[in-house]
Amino acid sequence: MYLILLGAPGAGKGTQADILSEEMNLAHIASGDLFRQALERKTELGLLAQSYMEKGELVPDEVTIRMVLERIAHDDCASGCIFDGFPRTLDQARALDEALAAQGKAVDKAMYIEVPEEELLRRLSGRWLCRSCQTPYHAVTSPPQAAGKCDKCGGELYQRPDDEEETVRERLKVFFAQTAPLLDYYERGNRLVKVNGGLGIEEVAKKVIGVLEEAS
Ligand code: AP5
Ligand code: MG
Repeated sequence: MYLILLGAPGAGKGTQADILSEEMNLAHIASGDLFRQALERKTELGLLAQSYMEKGELVPDEVTIRMVLERIAHDDCASGCIFDGFPRTLDQARALDEALAAQGKAVDKAMYIEVPEEELLRRLSGRWLCRSCQTPYHAVTSPPQAAGKCDKCGGELYQRPDDEEETVRERLKVFFAQTAPLLDYYERGNRLVKVNGGLGIEEVAKKVIGVLEEAS
């Protein structure tokens, strides 16, 4: 199964993709994580991405599409994967459809995780992220067992610089202007499913799995 998780910044795409990838044994492909890993390694791609990410803008399509298509050419995506944060523009969505179609494959479902705007702001202001494996935590709703340390790998937790309030507001604007049109795109292709993402993490996970079972 090729599944896309669509949602505003802070909707819980990364959180749900982690749960689903374990549950369904599928690779988790997060474009934002790929950019942040490239930046950790100080590669040309990472430095280029940083100049957009720090302003809350999208990295240009050409660069993003190339990076993701290279990643999904690996064996672990041969029979499916979960996309988190990609596609984010119509051109990215079309490029993904074309690349999969060339191999006789297709996106099965695009799941929109809907969350009210005030809740998005609450979630992003309390988020902590593992520097090594990118697992997200929240100071209030899902704190790590030991302060500052990842439960899964022991990595250091940090706050993303783009979670600062002004940048979050820009990211939300960009989401509604450039990514929200994808809802129509997948609706027209009969691939859109929606889930109420405003509940607790476990409740949302149950709903996500329920919706996928119903749709299959
Ligand atoms: P990216 O890293 O993709 O960020 P985003 O889309 O803005 O989304 P987030 O990662 O902020 O939120 P999320 O939905 O994953 O929420 P999470 O699960 O962490 O992109 C960053 C930047 O990279 C972009 O601005 C752009 O510059 C660039 N980029 C990336 N992809 C690109 C692309 N395709 N094209 C161009 N540029 C691209 O949860 C958030 C918090 O809430 C956590 O603390 C979590 O613990 C908590 N939480 C989660 N679920 C719940 C719940 N149900 N209840 C309570 N708390 C919850
Ligand atoms: Mg994320």
